Amino acid sequence: MSPAAQTETKLYPPAADVVSRAHVNAEQYSEMYAASISDPVAFWAEQGKRVDWIKPFTQVKDVNYNFGEVSINWYADGTLNVTANCIDRHLATRGDQTAIIWEPDSPTEAAKHITYKELHGSVCRMANILESLGVRKGDRVVIYLPMIPEAAYAMLACARIGAIHSIVFAGFSPDALAARVNGCDAKVVITADEAPRGGRKTPLKSNADAALLHCKDSVKCLVVKRTGGQTTWIADRDYDYNEMALEASDYCKPAEMGAEDPLFILYTSGSTGQPKGVVHTTGGYLVYAAMTHQITFDYHDGDIYWCTADVGWVTGHSYIVYGPLANGATTLMFEGVPTYPDAGRFWEVCAKHKVNQFYTAPTAIRALMGQGTSFVEKHDLSDLRLLGTVGEPINPEAWNWYNEVVGKGRCPIVDTWWQTETGGHLMTPLPGAHATKPGSAMKPFFGILPVVLDPQSGVEIEGNGVEGVLCIKDSWPGQMRTVWGDHERFQKTYFADYKGYYFTGDGCRRDADGDYWITGRVDDVINVSGHRMGTAEVESALVAHAAVAEAAVVGYPHEIKGQGIYCYVTLMNDQEPSEELRKELVKWVRSEIGPIASPDVIQWAPGLPKTRSGKIMRRILRKIAENDFGSLGDTSTLADPSVVDDLIANRAGK
Ligand code: WTA
Repeated sequence: MSPAAQTETKLYPPAADVVSRAHVNAEQYSEMYAASISDPVAFWAEQGKRVDWIKPFTQVKDVNYNFGEVSINWYADGTLNVTANCIDRHLATRGDQTAIIWEPDSPTEAAKHITYKELHGSVCRMANILESLGVRKGDRVVIYLPMIPEAAYAMLACARIGAIHSIVFAGFSPDALAARVNGCDAKVVITADEAPRGGRKTPLKSNADAALLHCKDSVKCLVVKRTGGQTTWIADRDYDYNEMALEASDYCKPAEMGAEDPLFILYTSGSTGQPKGVVHTTGGYLVYAAMTHQITFDYHDGDIYWCTADVGWVTGHSYIVYGPLANGATTLMFEGVPTYPDAGRFWEVCAKHKVNQFYTAPTAIRALMGQGTSFVEKHDLSDLRLLGTVGEPINPEAWNWYNEVVGKGRCPIVDTWWQTETGGHLMTPLPGAHATKPGSAMKPFFGILPVVLDPQSGVEIEGNGVEGVLCIKDSWPGQMRTVWGDHERFQKTYFADYKGYYFTGDGCRRDADGDYWITGRVDDVINVSGHRMGTAEVESALVAHAAVAEAAVVGYPHEIKGQGIYCYVTLMNDQEPSEELRKELVKWVRSEIGPIASPDVIQWAPGLPKTRSGKIMRRILRKIAENDFGSLGDTSTLADPSVVDDLIANRAGK
């Protein structure tokens, strides 16, 4: 049962000690929220002080949501440097405090504690290395690294000199990497020899080598040593980071950046076409990341905070690196996976480093829940004060397990709903302000005005106990500004369907109490283990195989992953379905996109249900994949209704 459909309304109010410690209690939330909506300019001018400006802003907000003229600006005339805020300003008061705790893949390898002072030196060195490779303000740098401290150094080194980073998750294939290097015309790719994960190693440098065959000859490759397992080396293209760092100066002046200069590009999947480069800028993004990090997680000085995401996703950008470091936090970076060497690893790391706030994805909770409680009970979790989830709806069973077994019923759970596009949390309960309900994102963050629209008419549905598509009225500082190189696509994707609103692509219910429940995507985006994927991407990978004539991909409910990838494949006339071909296609998609896109099910489809105008009826394919044949709806408009009977009769894994 989806969280939205369930009727559980049990409330979990925050305990008195949580409320008294919290930055924001219920009364303060109501007051601040009302103020943020009634006078956003005054509210965000005040919040803008979270950041140290080189030249203070005088303009706060300049936003136009009209389709055709969309433009979003925050603090536009202010100047700043992100690393001056994330590092330099902390040096006087907490130079010797740990900024980053790094926990390696293998528990037998030593963890590292990197102080703010050390972080400063490493970031400056990397910034100087990038400059020596010809990187200048505004240039793009692609980062393709494991979860090692150098990934954070690389991001911050770009920000130091005003270069724009684009991180490509280390699980992506050479083809995906090449597309992203070319997509933003990057000057340098930063990678490592190998990425250890779960006891296995991904040959990152070899992947980069393969990718760079499809990129301009001028692209340079900066290689970080992680395992020492490197083999090939191309002179005058490959550069040894560790060697250069020995020579590089540990001071680099922070570049003065405009608030609206791009900070990073991050590719994410949409309902059509290839992934798009979401652009975030400097000032507003940093204010929003810092504010949400502090308030949602109720972060206080001296706390140890751990977000288990990868820096390849937006969660890693905002809530491992930029938000926490802007707040002078100690942030934990974990290289491994939750189940290596066993299903107790998360809890072992929490106990070892005395973690206070722990933030992970429902898919990890579901996977660990299946392994029983003994893996949790072995470890001392008494330092935990708050738990968070992100990336997909959490089912009540997983929520209850998280609450009882991990949090021992005393840690508030913040179910944070947001998107790559939003830069930070848009809806979440605040630990000291709101009672929680398992599966509900509860309340909007400050300055966020969610609206529920009728999907057909686009009219706002007022009142409580209503359901529709979720849009946001008006802007907030952390919002994406454009799609890299394609402002038209930005406007079409987010501002065309429902005029005057930001369209999230999600459905939502506002319950009888006025609390929000995300019901999942209303477009052709699926969410597999918390990873966002466009069905169109998987389809285009499949049809690129010589044996495939046509393919349609949908999501279906999957116990651990949330959604699995279900592919209907029509073969070329001269091809016979076989188990070998099925395996071959799975392998093919993995190599085209990456292991995260592995099809879970491939069903041979002699024909696909299409309208007379040739449009594939995905609604029907979704129902068949869900094993829900009773509600296929009207199939009489199909060009050939018998196709459906065949698909039902042969549904894979019946
Ligand atoms: C989904 C991840 C329910 C949603 C930060 C959204 C969620 C998409 C939640 C964005 C949540 C994220 N509850 N659904 N707490 N958080 N989603 O861009 O469908 O990788 O649109 O950003 O994930 O995924 P993205």
